[in-house]
Amino acid sequence: LQNDPEYRNKIKAQAMLYPKLQAIDTWMPSYREYENGPFLTRKLAIKLSIRYVTEDEELPEAILRNEYMPEGSRDLFKFVNWSHFLPEKYKKNHVYREPVLGKLNASCPGLLDSRVSPLLVNDSQLQNLPLTYIITCEHDILRDDGLIYVTRLRNAGVPVTHEHIKDTIHGAISFVTAPMYLHSGLRIIDKYISWLQENL
Ligand SMILES: *[C@@H]1O[C@H](CO)[C@@H](O)[C@H](O)[C@H]1NC(C)=O
Ligand SMILES: *[C@@H]1O[C@H](CO)[C@@H](O)[C@H](O)[C@H]1NC(C)=O
Ligand SMILES: *[C@@H]1O[C@H](CO)[C@@H](O)[C@H](O)[C@H]1NC(C)=O
Repeated sequence: LQNDPEYRNKIKAQAMLYPKLQAIDTWMPSYREYENGPFLTRKLAIKLSIRYVTEDEELPEAILRNEYMPEGSRDLFKFVNWSHFLPEKYKKNHVYREPVLGKLNASCPGLLDSRVSPLLVNDSQLQNLPLTYIITCEHDILRDDGLIYVTRLRNAGVPVTHEHIKDTIHGAISFVTAPMYLHSGLRIIDKYISWLQENL
């Protein structure tokens, strides 16, 4: 939206709850540790996110194998390279593995669109982004997307308020009524609303 003349400089803030921010590396540490959930599995995350860009059934299979990026796209990985951007404690003993390029020729340019993958822009574009609020959850496959975004935005000088919720999962705010009652979901809602009230 910042690139759209109609909205440029009209956005006051971006406020995100455990967001998905890129679709080119689905083998970061959080994707490995929470591959089978809780709640959001790697397979489901991939399936849901590609629905925005294609109905091609071959693509999710290739993404699961991490073999879907086209030849010549290696340069994009510097924007999401977790071995570079993730805080040490989350790297643990994971070893960075480069995706295999050029195996799937039916690539999908939509996945590389910054409206789908906002992490795939350079630092000068990040600098234009507004005040940011972001919640990440520990037990969430998307944890590392959020942590990397926080690091990159701060490096680019954008003011960021980051809340990391240690004891909860992706989708926590959906579980605030019986029978799936998560107290952490209510805490997240309270934090989010207070931030909006103070900053909008
Ligand atoms: C990712 O970062 C590591 C070290 O920080 C580097 O060795 C590696 O070449 C990078 N890979 C890509 C694809 O950018
Ligand atoms: C993809 O295209 C390249 C170059 O056009 C070709 O060399 C390669 O064999 C193709 N791969 C597949 C899996 O079709
Ligand atoms: C950042 O990306 C934009 C859009 O692709 C481009 O116009 C600009 O030259 C890039 N800036 C740098 C410093 O690479």
